[in-house]
Amino acid sequence: MNNERILLRPANLQDAVLRYNWFNDPEFTRLYLGRSAFTSYRQVEEEILFSTYPVVSTGLCELAIQIIDTNLYIGNAFFRKIDWQNRSAEYGIFIGDQQQWGKKIGPEVTEMMLQYGFAELGMERIWLTVLAYNCRAIKCFEKCGFQKEGVLRNAIFSGGRFNDVIIMSKIAGWKQ
Ligand SMILES: CC(C)(COP(=O)(O)OP(=O)(O)OC[C@H]1O[C@@H](n2cnc3c(N)ncnc32)[C@H](O)[C@@H]1OP(=O)(O)O)[C@@H](O)C(=O)NCCC(=O)NCCS
Repeated sequence: MNNERILLRPANLQDAVLRYNWFNDPEFTRLYLGRSAFTSYRQVEEEILFSTYPVVSTGLCELAIQIIDTNLYIGNAFFRKIDWQNRSAEYGIFIGDQQQWGKKIGPEVTEMMLQYGFAELGMERIWLTVLAYNCRAIKCFEKCGFQKEGVLRNAIFSGGRFNDVIIMSKIAGWKQ
């Protein structure tokens, strides 16, 4: 799946080195996971392999984000917990390369994924959670039509304090 600037492609094991670096970068993991985390190379490889199994059996549809001009792999976007009966899925995105933050790539990828999720996977409800302090991500999701549903108060403990998590969703065909 692609537009003029971005290619969304299946992940492969050549992505592992960059992905390993991102998941061991404290600023990235603070924003993405809500804590400074350490992830082994083996775990990263297993996550990549898992993403290559059939969507119908894993409930996961994950794609790597690549810049077309440079062939640079910069992150991933995915649906997980795909619920075929109720036609809902959780959305997630991470741009791991900090040089690529703030360049409007996130909203562009999210629009592509939403189009795919609603028009191809047939989803009715696409939802996500985001740390309340992750202002850049919240703005990105609002721009793409996600609406705030509520706050999971003190849901994540990290850095010696409890942090709120916001739940957002977008409904098929719903105009803002
Ligand atoms: C969140 C993410 C996907 C957003 O993608 P992006 O391409 O960086 O998004 P944008 O460049 O469109 O920036 C989003 C908005 O936030 C604003 N913004 C940028 N930095 C900001 C900051 N530190 N605080 C508040 N707003 C900020 C931008 O100005 C932009 O708003 P605008 O279009 O009105 O100017 C990407 O930054 C990312 O993956 N970050 C790390 C992992 C992560 O947080 N994932 C999401 C977890 S739920």
